[in-house]
Amino acid sequence: MKNLFDLTGKVIIVTGGSGFLGSQFVAHLRECGATVVIFDTNAPEPVDITNPASVEAATQKVVAVHGRIDGVVHAAGMAAEIGKADELFAPYEKFSIELWRKEFEINLTAAQIVTQAVVPQMMKQKSGSVVFIASDLSLIAPNNSIYDGGKFKDIAYVSSKAGMLGLMRGWASYLGAHNIRSNALVPGGMYKETYADEFVKKNSAQNMLGRMSLQGEYNAPLQFLLSDASSYMTGQSLIVDGGRTAW
Ligand SMILES: NC(=O)c1ccc[n+]([C@@H]2O[C@H](COP(=O)([O-])OP(=O)(O)OC[C@H]3O[C@@H](n4cnc5c(N)ncnc54)[C@H](O)[C@@H]3O)[C@@H](O)[C@H]2O)c1
Repeated sequence: MKNLFDLTGKVIIVTGGSGFLGSQFVAHLRECGATVVIFDTNAPEPVDITNPASVEAATQKVVAVHGRIDGVVHAAGMAAEIGKADELFAPYEKFSIELWRKEFEINLTAAQIVTQAVVPQMMKQKSGSVVFIASDLSLIAPNNSIYDGGKFKDIAYVSSKAGMLGLMRGWASYLGAHNIRSNALVPGGMYKETYADEFVKKNSAQNMLGRMSLQGEYNAPLQFLLSDASSYMTGQSLIVDGGRTAW
């Protein structure tokens, strides 16, 4: 039987591929037989995805070396460690506009820059899959009671991640005629060893399965969106959040 989930020979760019989720995605996609190229500032060959010239050069290199681009995964983000970045968890009326602009630049504008760079090659091929890594907070308001007192989930994160779904749908509508698909993977919070027990407990109580996601649990949903198994799916969000947003 043909394996519709097979990624053998596919060339896939992963932005943020050195990060927490990104590195899990890269390892999994490579295990599935894909050739993966990382666009990340924290990489042996750094690529700053907020810089159009740097993205264009890196994309041209992918085409020159590998001959095609089958997928792009937008997994870069300005994610903050809980407890580390007080400024990011500031009351909203005091939230720094400089920080707001920076976060929109990384979470949203850069995803536009990378999509603009890769799409011409996908159009030549008449195929491709663009996957935006959104967030449960793209769909719902943050429940600030799960954070330490006086901390409020980064308003620029919540806003830019909601915007990402608009970006995804806009591109889906535009690219459909070229047989290029654009979808979002919408994950809930993933467990990290560095999280405080109290935060894990409160976060876990937010969803129907009563736990944060395990590491690796978003890999197969991503594989689905990049593979021929999802060939008739575009403009949609695949929500993998333990039921949090269905409550
Ligand atoms: N971790 C979670 O539980 C979770 C849950 C839902 C959604 N998400 C989303 O997944 C994405 C990744 O999250 P993460 O936890 O892996 O974050 P992370 O901070 O571990 O990784 C982000 C990566 O993006 C890279 N990056 C930042 N700015 C860049 C730039 N200008 N150019 C190139 N690379 C840049 C960083 O170097 C880093 O490797 C985020 O967009 C986040 O919103 C994460």
